[in-house]
Amino acid sequence: MSNEKRNVIVGQSGGPTAAINSSLAGVYRTARDRGYKKVYGMEHGIQGLLEGRYIDLSEHIQTGLDEELLKRTPSAYLGTCRFKLPEIRDNQELYDKIFAKLDELEIDCFIYIGGNDSMDTIKKLYDYSILNGSNIRFVGCPKTIDNDLAHTDHTPGYGSAAKYIGTSIKEIIRDSWALEVEKGQVIVVEIMGRNAGWLTGAAVLAKGEDCGGPDAIYLPELPFDVNDFIAKCKNLLSKKRSVVIAVSEGIHTADGKYISELGEGSEGYVDAFGHKQLTGTARYLCSVIASEIGCKTRAIEFSTLQRAASHSASRVDILEAYEIGGAALKAADEGDSGKMVVFTRLSDDPYQCGTEVKDVHKIANDERMVPREWITEDGTYVTDEFVTYVRPLIQGDVNPIMVDGIPRHLYKTGYQHMG
Ligand code: F6P
Repeated sequence: MSNEKRNVIVGQSGGPTAAINSSLAGVYRTARDRGYKKVYGMEHGIQGLLEGRYIDLSEHIQTGLDEELLKRTPSAYLGTCRFKLPEIRDNQELYDKIFAKLDELEIDCFIYIGGNDSMDTIKKLYDYSILNGSNIRFVGCPKTIDNDLAHTDHTPGYGSAAKYIGTSIKEIIRDSWALEVEKGQVIVVEIMGRNAGWLTGAAVLAKGEDCGGPDAIYLPELPFDVNDFIAKCKNLLSKKRSVVIAVSEGIHTADGKYISELGEGSEGYVDAFGHKQLTGTARYLCSVIASEIGCKTRAIEFSTLQRAASHSASRVDILEAYEIGGAALKAADEGDSGKMVVFTRLSDDPYQCGTEVKDVHKIANDERMVPREWITEDGTYVTDEFVTYVRPLIQGDVNPIMVDGIPRHLYKTGYQHMG
């Protein structure tokens, strides 16, 4: 095989974040700086590649300004998918098809930016490459607002979502003080994160000299009891007029039933990895408060807002996302395959993180939870250790490039959102 560098292909997968495009920019820049000829982008991840959908990124990122805009653009520039590759033994032809496409495009390095399900794709493609003697290197680049990837200190996307959550909870608490509602009010805020409470715990960031923070925080790591919750609300209302509570979308009863499934008409969408769409937890809890306590309630679901809020992104997050994209490409360029790049924290104060590579087989399909000791004994708040962990990840701002008073994004022509 000649030593001449050929091409790179990169894909984005899973739920979008405010930082995933910064990782894409990091992969692109490092590939160009290291002498690769072309950097292809899969449209909608491996699913799009299977349909022959990819672009030449150099036609899209033509100037330094384009790169800066890409870093500040939320969602996923290339589009993502939640597509589960079958086991190799169950559908060898599908893998033959993917590798034929990669060979046709003369790919040396395949980078996939995603969460734990996406690392399953890197794992399977790497395993196939070993079975079939392919020289293509497969490296994963972490991403998920859920922060639930194993073997990494944190994941790009989490810091910006955590910053949005801390900020918005603080604004909600401030708003709730304004009116003195007769019989009081309870505001329940529902936060993403599926089975891991990293995002919900970030509600604690609202707490400071000028704000007491949320009144309770319920993570999905512990079983949730609706009667205990109502008792807690009653107790809080006996002391104050306005109560703000953060709950994870993934809170569930001791026998494993999601609270979001307790409401009427809650059977929802299930994705290719078997994940149920979790929505309606706050709405359900507010309906129980209204009937049991009879006070005013408001259910707030941050939903898409928490992962798309690039206007309030964390500078640390956007810079680290760029760096780890570059580190993923560097690892593949230097011969690593079947690996994911991870962050290793060197110190909290001053905050310092380095990157290294870890075997993707240990990471794929695993979920990293908030440690029990970072949740208070009664299960209704997070501890100071949690705050020490998350605080560095939300530091600094990235100013959007404003046009006509609204942040400018890098966009792909011919895309549905262009109308
Ligand atoms: O995996 C990231 C995530 O944001 C989860 O926290 C959430 O449960 C899920 O995606 C929601 O995905 P969708 O917007 O596709 O329903």
